[in-house]
Amino acid sequence: MSTIIRASAPAKVNLVFEVGQLGSDGYHPVNSLFFALDLSEELTLAKGEAGTGISIYVHGDSIPEAHINAVPTDHSNLVHKTAVLFAQKLGKATPDLQIDIHKRIPVAGGMAGGSADAAAMLVAMNEFMHQEHGTEKLSIEELAVIGAELGSDVPFCLYGGLAIGTGRGEMITPLEGLSFETNWLLCASSKGLSTPTVFAAFDELDTETQFTDLAELSKTSSPTELGSRMTNDLEQAAFSLMPSLSQQVRELEELGAIRAMVSGSGPTIAALFESEAKANEVSKALNSQGVVALTAKGGAQGARLDG
Ligand code: C5P
Repeated sequence: MSTIIRASAPAKVNLVFEVGQLGSDGYHPVNSLFFALDLSEELTLAKGEAGTGISIYVHGDSIPEAHINAVPTDHSNLVHKTAVLFAQKLGKATPDLQIDIHKRIPVAGGMAGGSADAAAMLVAMNEFMHQEHGTEKLSIEELAVIGAELGSDVPFCLYGGLAIGTGRGEMITPLEGLSFETNWLLCASSKGLSTPTVFAAFDELDTETQFTDLAELSKTSSPTELGSRMTNDLEQAAFSLMPSLSQQVRELEELGAIRAMVSGSGPTIAALFESEAKANEVSKALNSQGVVALTAKGGAQGARLDG
């Protein structure tokens, strides 16, 4: 029987995103409190016919069609790069693969959608190469080292849960989860924002940043307290590139969000609500106006194999 592996990985929000000055390596040092949401990408990997290479099919119906169409299906897709890099690390030839990506995370939205695909692919490749080529399975720490070469957010998507990210975001310190449930509404924009462009806009603003103790923040005791502590140093940069975002943040708070904030480099806005019922109510109202507003709960596990 042909080998078929299923894997998934979660979206992230940065509850806190502190960003330092651009370094000589072209990256900004960050101090981030990452939180995984139960909005996940699902990836299916099947052994392809010999000599057919890698083919990628992308689909999804909960995010705008333009987002799906914006995802490349050639060698520039992060999942393709992951397959090549993973096989190379094991000293093996890149296998022939048919890959199906079910996207649920807004594309170029600041929620690590591409990184979640890469994390799911790492977990899937780990299993595939073990089954097909008898290679030893790598640990999550070893997968994270490979993931860091693919993108700064990939290691967090492997770990999931709640974690501090330092370095350029790839050095992960897992924390115990929050002691309360969190309910989120994620408002996707029809257009994406490129991460390097947002970081470049951040440089223009010349912001002074202090790195704070994020482990202490993970001990907050309620959504209200958490909301009051959420910050994102990239938010003003995202506003400067897409001015309508600041109005949307205000509107979400007027509609009852405890706190609404640009997620990572944006432009998705992550809004924290007191209850699931309230998040659902606002989601319905926005969806009826044509806004893509997805609900999710916080604290999801990292990339994993699905049965
Ligand atoms: O690591 P990743 O591939 O996601 O980064 C994309 C781009 O975002 C980098 O090339 C860099 O321009 C910017 N970036 C940054 N500082 C970080 C992470 C990303 O400047 N900590």
